[in-house]
Amino acid sequence: MDEPVLCRRIPTPPWGDVADRHIVTIDEYIKTGGYAALEQALSMDPADVISVVRDSELRGRGGAGFPCGVKWGFLPDPDGGQRYLAVNCDEAEPGTFKDRLLIDYDPHLVLEGIAIACWACRLDTAYFFIRGEYRSQAGVVEAAIQEAYDHGIFGPQGLLKGKVDLKVDCFLHRSAGAYICGEETGLIEAIEGKRAWPRVKPPFPAVEGIFRRPTIVNNVETLAAVPDIVTRGADWYKTMGCASSIGKPGSYGSKLMGVSGHVTRPGVYECDLGISVRDLVEQYCGGMRGGKAYKACIPGGVSMGVLGPDQYEAELDFDIGARYDLMGLGTACPIICDEDTDMVSVARNIARFFRNESCGQCTPCREGSEWLYQLLRRIEVGDGRSRDLDMTLEIAGSMGVIPGTTICGLADGNNWAVRTIVNKFRDEFEARVKPSIVPVTVGATK
Ligand SMILES: Cc1cc2nc3c(=O)[nH]c(=O)nc-3n(C[C@H](O)[C@H](O)[C@H](O)COP(=O)(O)O)c2cc1C
Ligand code: SF4
Repeated sequence: MDEPVLCRRIPTPPWGDVADRHIVTIDEYIKTGGYAALEQALSMDPADVISVVRDSELRGRGGAGFPCGVKWGFLPDPDGGQRYLAVNCDEAEPGTFKDRLLIDYDPHLVLEGIAIACWACRLDTAYFFIRGEYRSQAGVVEAAIQEAYDHGIFGPQGLLKGKVDLKVDCFLHRSAGAYICGEETGLIEAIEGKRAWPRVKPPFPAVEGIFRRPTIVNNVETLAAVPDIVTRGADWYKTMGCASSIGKPGSYGSKLMGVSGHVTRPGVYECDLGISVRDLVEQYCGGMRGGKAYKACIPGGVSMGVLGPDQYEAELDFDIGARYDLMGLGTACPIICDEDTDMVSVARNIARFFRNESCGQCTPCREGSEWLYQLLRRIEVGDGRSRDLDMTLEIAGSMGVIPGTTICGLADGNNWAVRTIVNKFRDEFEARVKPSIVPVTVGATK
């Protein structure tokens, strides 16, 4: 892999301490070229803005990697009724803390992306849906939204002081604080004031979303990429990242990678997509903590599965799933594990998370997540039998949208996390279980 074009560390404050951060104000943002992209977008036909984003092959940064311009193109034509943008800043995926950094330091970059998306897609109402625990960040976003209203970016006069007649309102909506609130249809239910129970799809949100009206759901980081794509163009964007070895779309642009675990300098790094785990750890994170050896990497939130000891060279791009037996790249926020990590405990801990976060609507997820947790706990404490390993794989493999048994992808996350850890670290699990008791029929002869 070539030397990355771009990789810089975003200063990460110690957990919970954001007192010394510098939040870019709207005046500072405008002074350094902020909202010029919105101005440019508003001078273009909305369909042309969608074309630029589609040509850039920008893929969603929320976990699924769906091409942003293609999603925008799914909207039906305006019919005079309301149309919504849901900005996904729920960020409850374990190990993921990249969106928080964007709104902590540069909230207007995201707001500019929101305004451009609203123009391109002819959306009149944006809900900024923020994780419940992000109390301080909610204050930052609220203040930035107010600044944007005061400068005529949002409000009744039309976008950017009435430059066009599309009036956009932007509201902050604080999440109740559950992982499932980040799933796009759970999020829509939550915005409607209901329990965040995911909906059966189709219909997809672009056709029937908030209050059953057309809705685009985009991640904060996806929207933050849009202003630069508009001003610098799709070709510029594609100078970063890499093409796909499988087919279109590629893995273009930079990506915020929040690295945690056993590295010397954890933090959020902005890197070209395609950087290898080894380069990220050794060139940017100061290497493995305490000089220990690398053992495993959970590359994109726990839902995607795990890379094994022989997969340190894995490139962090959207093809990673097909190449290394993972569900996908996910949020590209790697958790790095060193040689001392007990992978049985890791699997049990992750299974506990999914057990606690299942919304309970689908039986395979509600019951299966409890079974998985109990089996892995039994193995961890040394009470497991070898047949428990196969049972674990069978239960995990039967849960999710991909096997067709659940409404949403939370169960697939549980499935991939548990299966890949057991498969890639099978020896560790085998060493912990007792042989299964083979039933013997008394008096049986051969
Ligand atoms: C259980 C679950 C939790 C999710 N949590 C988030 C989240 O916190 N933030 C996010 O942007 N996407 C999350 N997603 C993905 C969203 O459903 C959706 O794909 C995404 O917000 C679309 O935006 P994008 O195309 O810009 O990535 C989650 C998905 C699932 C299945
Ligand atoms: S898969 Fe799990 S979290 Fe998703 S809707 Fe079904 S029960 Fe709820």
